[in-house]
Amino acid sequence: MRVMILGGGGREHALAWSVAKSPRVDGVLCVPGNAGTAALGENVAASLDDHDALVKVARDHAVDLTIVGPEAPLCAGIVDRFEKEGLRIFGPTAAAARIEGDKAFAKGLMKSASVPTAEGRVFTDLKQAKQYVGTRDTGVVVKAAGLAAGKGVFVCEDPAYGLLALEDMMEKRVFGAAGDKVVVEELLKGEELSVFALVDGQTIYVLETAQDHKRVGEGDTGPNTGGMGAYSPAPIATPELMATVDREILVPIVDAMRKEGCPYRGVLYVGLMITAAGPKVLEFNCRFGDPEVQALLLRLESDLAALLESAVDGRLADADVRWDQRSAVTVVMASEGYPGSYEKGKVIEGLDKAAGMQDVVVFHAGTKQLEGRVVTNGGRVLSVTALGADVADAKARALRAAELIRFDGAFYRSDIGDRAIPAAQRT
Ligand code: AMP
Ligand code: GLY
Repeated sequence: MRVMILGGGGREHALAWSVAKSPRVDGVLCVPGNAGTAALGENVAASLDDHDALVKVARDHAVDLTIVGPEAPLCAGIVDRFEKEGLRIFGPTAAAARIEGDKAFAKGLMKSASVPTAEGRVFTDLKQAKQYVGTRDTGVVVKAAGLAAGKGVFVCEDPAYGLLALEDMMEKRVFGAAGDKVVVEELLKGEELSVFALVDGQTIYVLETAQDHKRVGEGDTGPNTGGMGAYSPAPIATPELMATVDREILVPIVDAMRKEGCPYRGVLYVGLMITAAGPKVLEFNCRFGDPEVQALLLRLESDLAALLESAVDGRLADADVRWDQRSAVTVVMASEGYPGSYEKGKVIEGLDKAAGMQDVVVFHAGTKQLEGRVVTNGGRVLSVTALGADVADAKARALRAAELIRFDGAFYRSDIGDRAIPAAQRT
C-alpha cells in the first residue's frame, strides 16, 4: 500500500519512518515533507490549505491511506473532504476536531460530561471578561478559543496580567478571529502529563505514555515552545492514574462526542495537570504531539499503518499492539533565536555519524535539501531520538548523538527527561 503523510515536521518524519517499516507499505509520500522524509520516499510540494490539490495528489499517486500531522487541515475539514471522495484518511472530521479548534466547545463538552477540568468561563465580550478577571484574587489562565498556533494561552499568576491578555486578544486582536472568544480559567498547579489515545469512534486504545518539555531553557525556564524534547515512558503515569484518566476522562468524552453526533476517530491528545485533587484536563488536541510521538514511535514494535487503519475502519478492539519495554528520549536541536526569529539555510553536518549509532534515529523537522546538502529550514531543526535501558540511558545516548551534529547557531537542552530520572542519577 501507499501512504501519504500531511505535514513537514519531526512528527511527520517519525510517522513516515514508522509506516515505512511495515512490510505492507511500498511507498511513502510526504506533503510537503522535509529533507528526512525525502530520503524515505517522495516529497510533493502542495499547500495543506488547498484541499483540491491534496485530493489530486492522493489520486495521482494512488494513495491508499493518508495520515494527517497538524491540526489546521483537520479543523478545516480535510477528513470530511477525503471521505466524500472515497479516500481513506486517519484523523477526526472537522466537527470532531473542534475539540482542539474551539476551546469553548471543548469546555462545554467537558462540563456536560462531568470531565474534571479547570473551572472556567467563556466570554465574547471584553467588558464582561475583564469584570470577571477583576474579581479574581488568584491566578488566571486566559486562552484564545480558536487556533493560535500554540501561542494563544497566557498563564497569569497575577490576575492584573490577565486583564492585559484579554485586551491583547479581544481589543488588539493579536490572534485575529481566534481571540474573539476567550476562555478564562483557574490556574492549576501540579505536574503536566500528555496522554495519547487512538479512537475509532467507540473503542479507545491508550498509547504508552510520553511527556514533553515545553520551555526553551534548561530547568524548564524561559518562553514556551512547541516542545524542546520528550521522554517515554513518563513515570508519573502510574497504572492507577491511567485507570482514573480512562474512567473519568477518556470514556465520558468519547461517549459525549458520539452523542453530540461527532464521533471521534483519530488520535486524541489529552493535556493534563496532575493536581492534588487528581488529573484535570488542560486541553484536548486532535493530533499527535510533536516531539512526543518521535519518542513513542521508536518504542512501537507493531505495524503503525495497520494500527491506524484499524482505527479508520472501526476495528481497534482487535488491534494487536506491542511496545519495546526500553525507554526513549528525543532531544530537539533548534536554531538560535527560536521560539523567536531565527535564520535559515545553515549547513548541517554530522547527520550520518549520529544516525550510525545503534538505536538512534535522527528525525528531521525544519530541514531541506539544497545543492546536495541538508540545511536548516525552521526553528526546530532535528529531533535526535534514542532508545536506552531507562530514561537516563536513553537521554545520555540522545545527547551523545546530538553532539555529533553541527550547524551554525544550533542549541538544545541537556536536561530532557530529568523529571523522569531520580535526582541521584542525573548528569
Ligand atoms: P494549552 O494549549 O491549553 O495546553 O496550554 C498551554 C500550556 O499552558 C499548558 O501546557 C500548561 O502549561 C499551561 N496551562 C494551560 N491551562 C492551564 C491551567 N488551567 N492552569 C495552569 N496552567 C495551564
Ligand atoms: N508538544 C506539544 C504539542 O505537540 O502540542
